[in-house]
Amino acid sequence: QQQQQQQRWQHLRPSKCHVITIFASGVLFSLLMLTLLDFVPSSPHRPRAVPGSLRRVGSDGGRALYAPRHLPDESLLRLADETRVMEPYLPVITRGKTKTAEEQQDTLTNEQEALGSLKMALEMKQLGKDDKALRLFQHALALSPRHPEILTKYGEFLEHNRQDVVSADQYYTQALTVNPYYTEALANRERTAQIVEQMDAKRFEALDRKRDALSSVHSSNMALKRAEKEAYIQHIYHSVGIEGNTMSLAQTRSILETRMAVDGKSIDEHNEILGLDAALKYINATLVNKNDYITLKDILEIHRRVLGHVDPIEGGEFRRTQVYVGGHIPPGPGDLAILMGRFENWLNSEQVFLMHPVKYAAMAHYKLVHIHPFSDGNGRTSRLLMNTLLMRAGYPPVIIQKQHRHKYYNFLQLANEGDIRPFVRFIADCTERTLDLYLWATSELSHPVPLLAQESMEGMPLIFNSFTGEEGDDIGSGSGDAIRIGVI
Ligand SMILES: *[C@@H]1O[C@H](CO)[C@@H](O)[C@H](O)[C@H]1NC(C)=O
Repeated sequence: QQQQQQQRWQHLRPSKCHVITIFASGVLFSLLMLTLLDFVPSSPHRPRAVPGSLRRVGSDGGRALYAPRHLPDESLLRLADETRVMEPYLPVITRGKTKTAEEQQDTLTNEQEALGSLKMALEMKQLGKDDKALRLFQHALALSPRHPEILTKYGEFLEHNRQDVVSADQYYTQALTVNPYYTEALANRERTAQIVEQMDAKRFEALDRKRDALSSVHSSNMALKRAEKEAYIQHIYHSVGIEGNTMSLAQTRSILETRMAVDGKSIDEHNEILGLDAALKYINATLVNKNDYITLKDILEIHRRVLGHVDPIEGGEFRRTQVYVGGHIPPGPGDLAILMGRFENWLNSEQVFLMHPVKYAAMAHYKLVHIHPFSDGNGRTSRLLMNTLLMRAGYPPVIIQKQHRHKYYNFLQLANEGDIRPFVRFIADCTERTLDLYLWATSELSHPVPLLAQESMEGMPLIFNSFTGEEGDDIGSGSGDAIRIGVI
């Protein structure tokens, strides 16, 4: 019996052949695991490994990881002295108004006129006179912007006669925020909501493809470096300009490049530019690389630089007074600590990992500017936070152009009323425009410089027009700057 047992075990004793087979399958198994690891979805906005080693192109092989995108080389910007004297800032306070009896009467008259306009618009629509109908709808909306019927009918016109489902859906949603039981808007939304959601998702995919294309451009590419520098200067120019800074693009450039004061402009206006410059450099050197949580302290550090580091009172501190921003009344100073704590949690929550980075960045911007934690510099700090999140996800910092500020505030207002999607789409537009600028600048197209110098910009790609960034009031710097992209 013993012999029998021995025999049974005999053939199980490892032979050379067995050892090799086991070893080989082990190797195969680990190879397989390594390959599979590539497909494990990783956080879209928080690259977790060593930056620089991650850049990978192509979106087809699972979710690729992205190296964060940095600002242009410091030497290229020729930045020097950061310790200039910065003046303390005073909060800008706009009082929220309560309506007087007279104004209430006005509202009623307006509403009657608006409904008259709506009636005519619908008649025109019936007659097939779309252009007239459009103007009448818009007139009605301008007179009475929160009337559910006007919003819904205008939405229907946009959906069916203009094939603009996104705007239509936005107006139905607005009608429902005014009256959640408005049946026509409810029925319409049932039709549009899903279509719009799919369109938004496609939009994000398109942005990802452009980001992929950009990450395949080597960072030593001279055209890319030039575009990065241009975008850096324009980012500062627009971000301070949106809030009323009157420096032209050429003056902004000159201050950043030479650190010399510009004649006829106030110290405050200079300091706003230098503050943003310092904050951007701080972000670039710290937060973009930090594969970790974004904390409240980080936000305060950004703000400290936005307002200038020698201002010991307001820079990096929450406000201690109530403020009023147009029609928006931000939370009282006593609630700021709690709300900002919640904001910090949200910024680092599981929920945001699943969001597209552009949506995440836009929402962070909106939430921060809604809380309005500072006495001044809330807009600039929010835009910087948004760009921090974008850069961490491999996107370039985006520019919100100052000539778009009405749209921008309008979308923030819509978000206050309950619909954040138009603001997210607006930021997606800005992101796309920025990506297009980089891609266009680094494509073959950008080489024939004489083309850029042409007076008329009509035939140029949209991105070029929108990136010249000049308004009519910047006479003397406009056309010169417009061609800089190609010739710095
Ligand atoms: C941004 O960071 C990169 C990488 O660390 C660095 O090369 C570049 O000089 C920085 N740019 C600025 C403006 O700080």
